[in-house]
Amino acid sequence: MKRRIVVTSALPYANGDIHLGHLVEYIQTDFWVRFQKLRGHECVYVCADDTHGTPIMIRARKEGITPEELIARSHAAHLKDFTDFQIAFDNYYSTNSPENRELSESIYFAAEKAGAITRKTTPQLYCEHCKMFLPDRFVKGVCPKCGADNQYGDSCDKCGSTYGAEELGAPKCTTCGSTPVVKDSEHLYFELEPQHEYLEKWIPGHTTSDVSNKLLEWFKEPLRAWCISRDAPYFGFKIPGTEDKFFYVWVDAPIGYIASLKNWCDRQGKDWREYWNSELYHFIGKDIIRFHCLFWPGMLHTAGIEGPDKVFVHGFLTVNGEKMSKSKGTFVNARTYLDNLPADALRYYYAAKLGGTVDDIDLNLADFVQRVNSDLVGKITNIASRGGQMLQKKLEGRLGALDAEGRALVEKCQAAAGTIAGYYEDRRFNQVVVEICRLADAANEYFDRREPWKTVKTDLEATRTTLTAALNAFRLIAIYLKPVLPAYADKAMALFGETEWTWETLGTVLENTALGPYEYLASRIDMKQVDAMISAATVKPAESGEVAHESRASKNKDKSAAPAAVAPLKPQIEFADFEKLDLRIATVENCEIVPKSSKLLKFTLNVGALGERTVFSGIRQAYPDPAALIGKELLLVANLAPRKMSVGVSEGMIIFAGEPGANGGVLFPAAAAGAGTPAT
Ligand code: 2FM
Ligand code: ZN
Repeated sequence: MKRRIVVTSALPYANGDIHLGHLVEYIQTDFWVRFQKLRGHECVYVCADDTHGTPIMIRARKEGITPEELIARSHAAHLKDFTDFQIAFDNYYSTNSPENRELSESIYFAAEKAGAITRKTTPQLYCEHCKMFLPDRFVKGVCPKCGADNQYGDSCDKCGSTYGAEELGAPKCTTCGSTPVVKDSEHLYFELEPQHEYLEKWIPGHTTSDVSNKLLEWFKEPLRAWCISRDAPYFGFKIPGTEDKFFYVWVDAPIGYIASLKNWCDRQGKDWREYWNSELYHFIGKDIIRFHCLFWPGMLHTAGIEGPDKVFVHGFLTVNGEKMSKSKGTFVNARTYLDNLPADALRYYYAAKLGGTVDDIDLNLADFVQRVNSDLVGKITNIASRGGQMLQKKLEGRLGALDAEGRALVEKCQAAAGTIAGYYEDRRFNQVVVEICRLADAANEYFDRREPWKTVKTDLEATRTTLTAALNAFRLIAIYLKPVLPAYADKAMALFGETEWTWETLGTVLENTALGPYEYLASRIDMKQVDAMISAATVKPAESGEVAHESRASKNKDKSAAPAAVAPLKPQIEFADFEKLDLRIATVENCEIVPKSSKLLKFTLNVGALGERTVFSGIRQAYPDPAALIGKELLLVANLAPRKMSVGVSEGMIIFAGEPGANGGVLFPAAAAGAGTPAT
């Protein structure tokens, strides 16, 4: 049955650049949307810039331009970044739009009519110099709980406590440095407690259990009312019926999802309600759960508008196991990445890491280069480049017919369709990649076994038969990859002389047809490109400060100081100590998760002449997908005395470079030598 699906990603703030952390969300949403479209469903992907709030106003003021000029500039830059990363929105709009104003007002009126809006006067910090009330992130002072200096107005970095900005000691306005005064101001609140029961029931059905368990903890007490107004000056929508109050940016931001959809529908002559009431999914990061799973369904419910079917929550991005850092050059903007590396590489790597859970994912830069080169280029693309080029050069570029062995290979690839579709639907993109690599392995094994580079000298037709199977297998793999690598898939499609691929194309086989010209699909990447990107992204500590927004941007904000001098982790050793190690290259025959352990992986290793070894290694955080390690080579200390552990005896030590306990780090990438080769 054809489904109608509306999908959103969180709206990025208009005062900052798109960075690799943002892209975790837009890229995965794009995978999911493209998958649904490939399956033949009607899927509309809408997004917009989140344009309101104090930081945007201040940034524009600092640059001497109007907020409207700033948001127009950001809109163009964001859209270009997204397009170059092959993220295909059906509509990329703005929250500063007539549709959004109208919808925000009508949702507010509905809340007012339902008696959900109350007024309260509270003391707030006011900067006489800037002539404005200070949002929490625009004031710093001494933490009222632990006395730490230089803390924001909402929470303390040192002791973790939360408080009101007016409780800070020696507060200072972060814009002008002057000491604010305390002034009373009346604000509007959206009462949530009347919806206690409704939301308590709504949440478990609309998020995953890890998210809803966390949220439901708040339901042990009455739900606190949410302050939805901000005082002028504020860049946003004026609240109807007030003199100088504006909607807090988080009121009109999610309404921006509807506004973007409405704008798209109006241009297509469609009714936005029909679309909004179809399947609706929000992709968001874990820092904005409260807004999407509490305030948002609460507001919609009061207004009689349907809420989302599911809120899909993902974790943050770490780089080399650490929070992104401007001073370390790991806070990389989309443009800086694109200036140095291909979009496909990041899309492929994110797919390999994303498992549809709220866990953070790590961009380990060495692993990134290694995986793109060994899997995407060396394993998958290799089938097309070896097979395609040989067919073009020696066999007039014509496919032949499949023999029994070739058909078995192709059928194996076709048989994976259901499993792969299930993984896509569940957003387990890492499993999609595992399956695809498994099929690519089978195609490469077939290719190597049939040795077409030899038969081409003796039996051209047998060679054509071999290449026909290998290329058909590649074609199916490229169709599976289409949501992850759309541009790549388009080039592959042209190679086969085709003009449209859908999920149904997987049921077809190409025999006795001509190939189009072979075009480069993907090239290897080099650590030098990564180094150039990191050095372009490195900001001297003095320059790395930026105006924070009140939510997500602050999470990504680099709070690290100058890089600390790196001390060696262990005392120096002598060469004689090092010489005692018997280092061997071993092949992973099996690798599995150890039940009840969050750290350990159990390896069965082939150490050549030394036979088979069982080794337990605490690297699960860096390699959450053990099956992906099977067949890989690694470096082993083979003469370490066996160690009895609670889970079994470990017969050696795997070499892993990275911080102990951190989820970064990488296995020593052994060279392509035979198993059990002495490495010293
Ligand atoms: O956290 C953020 O970056 C917000 N701009 C997200 C808004 S999402 C939606 F609610 F609009
Ligand atoms: Zn000030």
